[in-house]
Amino acid sequence: MPTHTADRRSPLSRVDGPEELRRRCDRIRAAGQSLGLVPTMGALHAGHRRLIQRSRAECDRTVVSIFVNPIQFGPGEDLNLYPRSLDADLAVCAELGVDLAYAPSEAAMYPEGFATRVNLRGALVETLEGARRPGHFEGVATVVTKLLVTARPDRAYFGHKDAQQCAVVRRLAADLNTGAEIVVCPTVRDADGLALSSRNARLDPAGRRQALAIPAALAAADAAFRLGERDAEAIRDVVLRRLAESPALDVDYVAVVDALTFLPITKMHVRCEILIAARMGGVRLIDVLTPGTDEGLVVGVGE
Ligand code: PAJ
Repeated sequence: MPTHTADRRSPLSRVDGPEELRRRCDRIRAAGQSLGLVPTMGALHAGHRRLIQRSRAECDRTVVSIFVNPIQFGPGEDLNLYPRSLDADLAVCAELGVDLAYAPSEAAMYPEGFATRVNLRGALVETLEGARRPGHFEGVATVVTKLLVTARPDRAYFGHKDAQQCAVVRRLAADLNTGAEIVVCPTVRDADGLALSSRNARLDPAGRRQALAIPAALAAADAAFRLGERDAEAIRDVVLRRLAESPALDVDYVAVVDALTFLPITKMHVRCEILIAARMGGVRLIDVLTPGTDEGLVVGVGE
């Protein structure tokens, strides 16, 4: 558990380059302190805040990375639309008592001649998001690996909302013997139930109302599970039926999978997840629920 007290903390330091990040993190470890890493692409909202607060509670020092990672966006994706708000993000980090904010330029992260990619194999990266977003998990795995080997944190914090990303990161952290514990934190939702995402800002009010079918469908599936339904196809039908009530929502997939392998399952079990991906207008939304757990669909905890 952390050894610091709030009043003895030094203020936020901004770090721009990997060598400096490594030096600062080495110093933290040499002082016998534990280090938590929270990787982000900025535009920090209450979901990110929750990860940072968890790291602050569990680790002596916390580093937050803020980097819109170009190699995880496909050609037709929203890299150019992705919100950038570094000053506001640094203010959030300072307010939450973050020790280091790592905000490298693209050139610092991927200098000329950069040629390495980290790739996983199998269903984990080939299905669902992996199938729809070629190269996405390669980009995520590459940047997360770089962060893990540079900072060498004791723990790294990820949000359950991006469930497949969590599974990919868990796998690579273990496979590459990084020594980092991957901590998956519950999805933070707005008061109306929609999972917080920087992309939500692009929904108009009507679109947002339609999008609420996503958490509503997950809640319906959770209710069916709690009433004893264990047939995965029946649970999937509950979700699809509820989503169909929002005709403007373009459903990409509904899947019931094993949380570690991402293989589809037929019978619900403790490690399963219900996943939804859908488009509302030009905005792609994803959400997830592990039925029957405490995480449930906690609403009203966003900003
Ligand atoms: P980004 O979308 O900025 O998300 C950073 C972290 O915040 C991820 O672990 C994500 O799952 C988590 N997060 C986002 N919305 C959340 C919510 N509503 N509740 C809880 N956690 C939430 O995910 C990425 O960036 C990138 O792929 C990254 C891992 C940083 C690699 O570039």
